[in-house]
Amino acid sequence: MKAVIPAAGLGTRFLPATKAQPKEMLPVFNKPTIQYVVEEAVASGIDDILIITGKGKRSIEDHFDRSFELEFFLKNSGKIDHLVEIEAISNMADIYYVRQKEQKGLGDAIRCAKKHVDGDPFAVLLGDTITQNSTPCTQRLLEIHEKYQSSAIAIERVPREKIERYGIIKGHEVEKSVYHIEDMVEKPSLNEAPSDLAITGRYILQPEIFDHLEQVSPGVGGEIQLTDAMRLLDDIYGYVFPGRIYDIGTTVEWLKSSLDMALEDPQVGHELREYLKKIIQ
Ligand code: G1P
Repeated sequence: MKAVIPAAGLGTRFLPATKAQPKEMLPVFNKPTIQYVVEEAVASGIDDILIITGKGKRSIEDHFDRSFELEFFLKNSGKIDHLVEIEAISNMADIYYVRQKEQKGLGDAIRCAKKHVDGDPFAVLLGDTITQNSTPCTQRLLEIHEKYQSSAIAIERVPREKIERYGIIKGHEVEKSVYHIEDMVEKPSLNEAPSDLAITGRYILQPEIFDHLEQVSPGVGGEIQLTDAMRLLDDIYGYVFPGRIYDIGTTVEWLKSSLDMALEDPQVGHELREYLKKIIQ
């Protein structure tokens, strides 16, 4: 199985931070966001990863490349822990890149993966979304894909005021936390939303999706929407992911993700907790 990580968006919700750096490279605690995403794919057993980039995203490639100068410096100065960590980043997986040439939406970005995926089912992990759970979200989706021999996507319940930001599904539960999806709609108004179950940025897709992506017309925002193409798949299941999900494209979610991870860190967690207690009083 191969994974595709779309990371081509402009990050307009996070300007000016994203003016000259990709949102996927914004650090969450001590790592760039996209490193968590690649680590999830690897932890789920996937080591062939295609990242869909675009203009201004070169630092993503640099991050997963070797840095001989840095490695030399760390070795010579005896910073072996850092050296091991830095080398591990470039050895994690086989990472390939393709550029989306115009901002035509998530569906169009996925279309750029067609040749690399080469007719097999594949995983999609949005490059600006971090999930956390003892069993990685993508691993669980792979199990569901295997069991039902069909596409599988992660979903979560969202509060009413957030519904308009997501793709929303209509479906019925077939086993605990697994829904058979009957329909879905991208960024519906509250009235049109068929449920409060939102698509959350992790997918296993059957290769037929590429034919459907050719068929759909531009949807919400004039963009080719992945959700519109997924509606045309024969069968698709939704898994209510029980872990934490952060869409770091929004400032508040990004702050929450950094705080949560820093609070769990054995080195800085205690100090941060004390600081937060003090400023919240
Ligand atoms: C995309 C998808 C949407 C999904 C969301 C999750 O939207 O189009 O269906 O619910 O990711 O974050 P975007 O956030 O790119 O607008």
